[in-house]
Amino acid sequence: MSEQKYSAQPCNLYRQMVLFDNFVAKLKFFIEVLLYFERFKCNIISNRYKLLFFRIFSDTIKLNTPTGIYAQAFSALLKNCHFCIFYRKTRSMKDKVIIITGASSGIGLACAREFGAHGAKISLAARNAGKLQEIETELAAAGHEVMVTTTDVSREEDCKNLVMKTIARFGRLDILVNNAGISMRALFKDVDLEVLKQLMNVNFWGTVYCTKYALPYLLESKGSVVGVSSIAGFIGLPGRTGYSASKFAMHGFLHALRTENLKTGLHVLIAAPGFTASNVRKSALDAGGKQQGETPRAEEKMMRAEEVARHLAKAIIKRKHSLILTFKEGKLAVFLNKFWPDLMAKLSYNHMAKEPDSPFN
Ligand SMILES: NC(=O)c1ccc[n+]([C@@H]2O[C@H](COP(=O)([O-])OP(=O)(O)OC[C@H]3O[C@@H](n4cnc5c(N)ncnc54)[C@H](OP(=O)(O)O)[C@@H]3O)[C@@H](O)[C@H]2O)c1
Repeated sequence: MSEQKYSAQPCNLYRQMVLFDNFVAKLKFFIEVLLYFERFKCNIISNRYKLLFFRIFSDTIKLNTPTGIYAQAFSALLKNCHFCIFYRKTRSMKDKVIIITGASSGIGLACAREFGAHGAKISLAARNAGKLQEIETELAAAGHEVMVTTTDVSREEDCKNLVMKTIARFGRLDILVNNAGISMRALFKDVDLEVLKQLMNVNFWGTVYCTKYALPYLLESKGSVVGVSSIAGFIGLPGRTGYSASKFAMHGFLHALRTENLKTGLHVLIAAPGFTASNVRKSALDAGGKQQGETPRAEEKMMRAEEVARHLAKAIIKRKHSLILTFKEGKLAVFLNKFWPDLMAKLSYNHMAKEPDSPFN
């Protein structure tokens, strides 16, 4: 009897040790995954999946762990879950200093109103001084901290001045939204090359200049660089050679900048709104470089700039790398282009050819 009791003890102890070993191995794995999430600032997996992972993890522990060890695991779990559950609440735009270029109309103006409502301090830039003044008055009356600087982003000096004035007023910079942009509509065989140069100067060089002068302050704040690009930055759109080229160039620049800063804490977001109701098609340049003055598309059926601004605010707060809006002409088009580029070329040709007065109809 006593012999039996004696032999059962090491067996029990051995089982406990195996369980403990399992537990330690799982806990180690769990902590490693957590550190992984932390290191990449939670960009890779959304909070919903993280919580699901924690739940699965706690269930596996429960199955084969004595209550005492389970309790320990659970408290560790809660401690780490705390970070996850409150992640959204701790990150916000409140008191963040944000520069928005192209803020006198459309998406930029909607962002100014949205980010202001989040409690951000906003510095707005565009060429139209009169419109900027009106917007400053409107936002200041709504109780937002706002400043405006007349800026042509295709001029390096203007971009430097914009950043310096923002730093002089607010003392820091957290987010730069490179939104200023122009479009075009003409076949390459007909277009004046000056049009393409102008598009590159505003859309691409404007982004480069502003980012260059803002970067030291953004590195200091571990802030965000945002590029408001387009689906035309993923898919070459017919009749928009200069526009697509400038947005593809933005993508290359921002991708490389993100990789270069993998370990500095800088966040880079490339946002591609689908068709959005705005002034962009009216101010698009024709073959000779004149603004076409009217839109060839039904603006009232498009996504509203306010919706884009809401998505942008969320993506910046969550430090996402990429934001593609609209389904059919956005996410689906980018997906099809990746795997069936020839099919996508035919689809986008036919789609754009349907526009009234399409240059390649
Ligand atoms: N609307 C769409 O369907 C759509 C879709 C995808 C991407 N996007 C992108 O979204 C961004 C915003 O466009 P939006 O649709 O809001 O068009 P928008 O209403 O025409 O706004 C464009 C803004 O850019 C500013 N801008 C133009 N040239 C500038 C320059 N040289 N320097 C400084 N600011 C300049 C304009 O202001 P001033 O004239 O006062 O300078 C205006 O505030 C653009 O980058 C565009 O490519 C738009």
